Amino acid sequence: MKLSEHVRYVGVNDFRPFLFENQWTLPHGVSYNSYLVVDEKIALVDTAAAAFGEQFLANIREEIGDRQVDYLIVNHMEPDHSALMSLVREEYPGIQIVTNAKAVPMIEGYNGITDNVKVIKEGEVLSLGSVSLTFAMIPMVHWPETMVTYLAEEQTLFSGDAFGCFGAVEGGICDRFEEYRDEMVRYYASIVGKYGQPVQAALKKLSGLTLSRICSTHGPVWESQIPQVVALYDRMSRYETDKGVCIVVGSMYGNTEKAAEAIHAELVKRGVKCVIHNAVTENPSFIYKDVFEYNTLICGSPTYNNDIFPAVREVLYGVCARQVKNHGFAAFGSFTWAGASVKLMNEMASAAGLKLLSEGMSFRQGFGEKYSDNVVAFVDEVINNM
Ligand code: FEO
Repeated sequence: MKLSEHVRYVGVNDFRPFLFENQWTLPHGVSYNSYLVVDEKIALVDTAAAAFGEQFLANIREEIGDRQVDYLIVNHMEPDHSALMSLVREEYPGIQIVTNAKAVPMIEGYNGITDNVKVIKEGEVLSLGSVSLTFAMIPMVHWPETMVTYLAEEQTLFSGDAFGCFGAVEGGICDRFEEYRDEMVRYYASIVGKYGQPVQAALKKLSGLTLSRICSTHGPVWESQIPQVVALYDRMSRYETDKGVCIVVGSMYGNTEKAAEAIHAELVKRGVKCVIHNAVTENPSFIYKDVFEYNTLICGSPTYNNDIFPAVREVLYGVCARQVKNHGFAAFGSFTWAGASVKLMNEMASAAGLKLLSEGMSFRQGFGEKYSDNVVAFVDEVINNM
């Protein structure tokens, strides 16, 4: 697919029923984007996932016929983009891999490749004839070796995972921000969420570039909607959110769930924006997404083995691991003979820097009308401290 005079899209869509990184569900699929820069010499920017070799090579041939690819630019070594390196080398034996020093041991480690690798430095220029590519490191967006490649003549940035999102691309590859916005937040929160500071550093570094086109490794190519996409990445990497509540609940026999519904109803009654997620049945990526949307997290868990209920503990651990900032936290939960979960959730959240908005709400055995006043008091405290 032709994107400009020199840039072609040769990526693939993945609609398989599988988990991305073996963790994240993909209701709308995902794309592995790869690009050709076609000039007197031809450069291929990244490859695709292992399952798509035949289609990937066919996409390249469709664009350049029998011409040879001269360079493989390796911006990022995560295998969803690098798994076809050896196949590409078999197809184009003269190809030279162009990458940075941090990627070199990964290329050897994953692919056993040590020859015909050109190591470039930050700011170095690679001429393709009438146009040229320059390179800049953006470490930890998403791995330490990650870099971007800039085609100055067409103001096009090959951005690696930066500005990427879940969702296969079909029916038009450019500028579908409104359609993909939620999948961008879910992708960011799940994959890149921990690395807010490196994303901020990358945004600062790239702010000096004139951008007419961003070609990410996942999701649409951005042209007219670059401001919206950059603004969203800026917001997420600052951990900025809307005022609102994400309730996460796990329940064995339905009592903690009833409490979650009562808290949700009370918050909605007070005009607070509020979503509720089931930690047992939902993929955590949908929960992380809403943690990156709202400034308050409320977790509900029964006491289980004198601990937090496993599914809720797992989600809360994931939130803490993402080092989210500027968030309030509150906990509630049931117990039968000795309560522990609320205290433990408070400790976990507090240690991760979340601000405790309440001491929490515990209740013994069945949840019902008798706890109505406790719910009101709990919600009062949360709202007053949000
Ligand atoms: Fe899509 Fe970090 O690779």
